Amino acid sequence: MIAPSILSADFANLERDVRMLNASDAAWIHVDIMDGDFVPNLSFGLPVTEAIKRHAEKPLDVHLMIVQPERYLEDFKKAGADVLTVHYEASTHLHRSLQQIRALGMKAGVALNPHTPVDLLADVLGDLDLVCLMSVNPGFGGQAFIPQTFKKVERLRRMIDDAGTPTLIEIDGGVGLQNAADLKKAGANVLVAGNAVFKANDPVATIRQLNEA
Ligand code: DX5
Ligand code: ZN
Repeated sequence: MIAPSILSADFANLERDVRMLNASDAAWIHVDIMDGDFVPNLSFGLPVTEAIKRHAEKPLDVHLMIVQPERYLEDFKKAGADVLTVHYEASTHLHRSLQQIRALGMKAGVALNPHTPVDLLADVLGDLDLVCLMSVNPGFGGQAFIPQTFKKVERLRRMIDDAGTPTLIEIDGGVGLQNAADLKKAGANVLVAGNAVFKANDPVATIRQLNEA
């Protein structure tokens, strides 16, 4: 599945860009929320998420790069999130947050920074619908893919297969046609792509190629 990241869209033409994604092979629309505290950048918040939702015909995959994400779970449900991902590093009570996300009727995700080992998820795999492995340090689009991510995908794939859970593996950061096929081979299910899609001459064709890679 391909989840183009709206962070790389033209914010003055969001409706146009969301319609483009509606007409493409994208599975989800990835929505990056940054608070200038957990990450050194600000993106946008609830009203913009709601505005995207009004035009989106695909599920919103909302990635919270914010401190204490538990404060906003219900608000993002109301804003239209279908998948809601919190950061491991920002969650003191991760298990509770995951249960709350599911109780609100969303798929529950956890994101890991590049330095955070996948082994730390052993005791919550059953409470997770998705693990987002950050393949860049979160905060900005257009950064270079960190190759160590391949080992993390393979390791996490084994953990999930051993546990027998349907948890999806998502890769976020520096993903494009140059590594999509290898990431799928390593066990990834969802590929987030920002710049690779929105800076392409033909975003719809690029999404199709990523899908078929
Ligand atoms: C990074 C964000 C990503 C970002 C990916 O902090 O979480 O979703 O938009 O952008 P690219 O694909 O350009 O690396
Ligand atoms: Zn993201």
